[in-house]
Parts: sequence; C-alpha cells; structure tokens
Amino acid sequence: MNTAIYAGTFDPVTNGHLDILKRALNVFPHITVATAETISKHCTFSLDERLSLLRLVTQDIGGVDVRAFEGLLVDFARELGAKVIIRGLRQTTDFDYEFQIATMNARLDTNIQTVFFLSSLEYLHLSSSLVKEIATLGGDISQLVPPQVEDAIIQKVK
Ligand code: COA
Repeated sequence: MNTAIYAGTFDPVTNGHLDILKRALNVFPHITVATAETISKHCTFSLDERLSLLRLVTQDIGGVDVRAFEGLLVDFARELGAKVIIRGLRQTTDFDYEFQIATMNARLDTNIQTVFFLSSLEYLHLSSSLVKEIATLGGDISQLVPPQVEDAIIQKVK
C-alpha cells in the first residue's frame, strides 16, 4: 500500500501528534510525516529544528519517515504517490477549519482523500502553542511532550 502523509507544522511535535501517528499506523503500514516552512504562521522552531525533533521522537517507531516539503501539500502527496492525508481532530472547533482544508485539498486533487483520526481523551486540550506558553511560564510540560522535545522547548524559552 502507498504511503499516507501526516502533515502539520509540528512547532514542536507533542504527545498528541504522536498519539495520532501511532493510531494511524494501525491502519496505514507506512506514514510520511511532513512539515514545511509556513507562510501563515510564525514558528518558534526552524524547519530544521522541527524536522530533527520529529526524527528523534519517531526513530523507534517502524513504518515512519520524516520529510520537509515546499508548496502545496497535494503536490507533495502526488510526488510521493500518497493517496491519503491524515489529520487529527481534537474538538468540534477543529472541525470547521479541517473541513475547509480537506474540501479545498479534495478540490485541488480529487484522487487524494483526507482521513481524520480522533485524538485520545488525554490529548484533546493539547496544542503546540499551549505547551510553549506553559513552559515559558515555568509550568510542567513533561506529560505533554517527549523528553527530547521538553529539553528543546526549555532551551528555547530560556
Ligand atoms: N495533538 C496536539 N496538537 C495538535 C493535534 C494533535 N493531535 N492536531 C493539531 N494540533 C495543533 C498543532 O499543534 C497546532 O497548534 P498551534 O497552532 O498551537 O501550533 C494546530 O493544532 C494546527 O495544526 P497544524 O498541524 O500545525 O496544522 P496547520 O493548520 O498549521 O497546517 C500544514 C499545517 C503544513 C498541513 C498546512 O499549512 C499545509 O497544508 N501547508 C501546505 C500549503 C497548502 O497546501 N495550502 C493549501 C491548503 S488547502
């Protein structure tokens, strides 16, 4: 089966993202985790830092590779031969936004499907911004991100 793509900004990757990735691997045998320079968001971590952290925290998970892409996600999917884009849904508020992106991607390429995985209950409230805010204010993020990401965030917000 072709690869599926799990795309996101991952600024930085959290346990919530890894939860979606691991559950998606029960359905898709190979997943390319993809991240990009963003035009719409100012990132705390550079593209290289986001890629390094993604590679570190997925290195022991089989069936995963991590790639950067430029341009449209559907073009990258076509380049990889991927027919599926994976996205996580946390709350009903994610739905409107995700629905818009998924329908636009479907319009851009009718051969590519977006498949949603519901976040586990313990990660419903999690986002990369919240984790960074908590770390900046001296809070404990050890349950929210892998240890390597926790160290990187603490260095970054010092
Ligand atoms: N657990 C924890 N947090 C999660 C999560 C989960 N399961 N799922 C999403 N999030 C959070 C992210 O951490 C992020 O939080 P933040 O805003 O606090 O940083 C937020 O939800 C947004 O998710 P993200 O995955 O970063 O999505 P995005 O909307 O920024 O999209 C791309 C990123 C790369 C997929 C998108 O910009 C893209 O497709 N770019 C290519 C250009 C393109 O094709 N454009 C046309 C689209 S129609």
